[in-house]
Amino acid sequence: MALSAYLEHILKDAEELPPARPYINHAVAFKQPVTPRERAEALEKAGLNVFFYPAALINGCDLLSDSGTGAMTNEQWASLHYGDEAYGSNQGYFLLREQVRHTFGDLFFNNLTGSFNAFLFHQDRAAECALFTQIGKLGTGLIIPSNGHFDTTHANIEANGMRALNLFSPALKRKEDSSAFKGDMDTERFIQLLEESRAKVPLVYLTITNNTGGGQPVSLGNIAEVARIAHAQGIPLFLDACRFAENAWFIQQREPGYREKAIPDIVREIFSYADGFTISFKKDGLANMGGGLFLKENGLFVRKYPRMSDALTNHQILTEGNPTYGGLSGRDIMTIVEGLKTVVRQEYLDYRTSQVQAFGEHMKELGLPVLTPAGGHAVYMDMTEFFSDTRMRHEDFGGISCTALLLAAYGHRACELGDFAFGSYDTVAGKDNFPEVNFVRFAVPRLRYEREDLEAVAGAVKALYDRRDEMPPVRVTYGRDLPLRHFKARFEFID
Ligand code: F0G
Repeated sequence: MALSAYLEHILKDAEELPPARPYINHAVAFKQPVTPRERAEALEKAGLNVFFYPAALINGCDLLSDSGTGAMTNEQWASLHYGDEAYGSNQGYFLLREQVRHTFGDLFFNNLTGSFNAFLFHQDRAAECALFTQIGKLGTGLIIPSNGHFDTTHANIEANGMRALNLFSPALKRKEDSSAFKGDMDTERFIQLLEESRAKVPLVYLTITNNTGGGQPVSLGNIAEVARIAHAQGIPLFLDACRFAENAWFIQQREPGYREKAIPDIVREIFSYADGFTISFKKDGLANMGGGLFLKENGLFVRKYPRMSDALTNHQILTEGNPTYGGLSGRDIMTIVEGLKTVVRQEYLDYRTSQVQAFGEHMKELGLPVLTPAGGHAVYMDMTEFFSDTRMRHEDFGGISCTALLLAAYGHRACELGDFAFGSYDTVAGKDNFPEVNFVRFAVPRLRYEREDLEAVAGAVKALYDRRDEMPPVRVTYGRDLPLRHFKARFEFID
């Protein structure tokens, strides 16, 4: 019997087994052994703020962020060597232009014969700063609506005198809701906003996937609908495209009609609706550094604001450098070119997203109040629900307490993205303002951890959950009233 015939025979009724990872470990880094007591001392010195805790002392998993924290491929490491550090028009710039055009569509590339439409930045928040500094000059009382602004986007908008407005999908707040696209924008509220304040809206933003909204995906239907509503009123649509490939994977898997479509085609369809986008290449660029701002040639944005391209170029030269390197070294640019090729590979995305899904499902099976199905890059745990049968109040910042204990006791680092990070303190009224969502986020770096790593985290969180009654509240000893306070504040436990 021929081998192929035999194969067909044994595979005919075989169960579907879980596949091996689509990559191997090529180099590994050993962790430093650290005791819980040593971790507790270091965290106390850091004022219980996990951002200040030395990463070298993490001997569990570092799930603080999926940004710039991934492992790189062989191709990316090799490409570093080809980095061209020329001051103007380095080789990587042209390769990146071609790659951006290939990944996102023909109209997103830099036309060197006219005004720029592709801007490189050292990371995305610098791109946001450039964009919103210029947009903020267009008028007063402006509003930038979104399905969920990330914290730096929010901060850059508000720092320029505008209002950042989150129009979360109602499905996001219904825990039992199994909607496939909880990251969508609430278009009813968007229409209402335009009826009331159309002239105050210079552009609309969609964050794919919706990081602030539980990392949930956004449907192509919603992207098209928001574009239609906005364009009918002459308002350009921008994407915050940090996790564009993961979002495309969810569309492929969950949106009717997309199952047979290839990821690169879905990506180009998404971007066909956008007039511009900002991106952090530290996420779906699979790079450790990099950001960008891209405007569609002849899109509504460049037609509506014809002087914007020049103003953005000036901003970039003043703050980052020559537009062709934009704050990045040539070698960083090369890793982005390679990363953009890898990130849309089907087997990469299948594994990446299923790893995060399995992590979320595992936590759910342990009885933890996590948002499921999980999004593409992280598992979000609802801290209001976590503490619902305890004495912990919102102003006790239980999420901060939870992340501090998880790190000290078990060596895993997670991030509070809720009452503290997104809340604020009104010094005049002496009152806290709390956000609509209250999460602790477990962000999974790309290509870095394996299943047992994440299972260890889930087990540790479960151990804390079982003792949630005993978890102490925290007092904010510094920074309660500061903007972006989660990056700066210090805390202590209240006995
Ligand atoms: N937009 C989104 C949706 C993000 O998640 C981030 C960063 C940014 C913009 C800013 O990008 O870091 O390159 O300046 N998110 C990271 C996180 C930091 O942990 O979620 P950047």
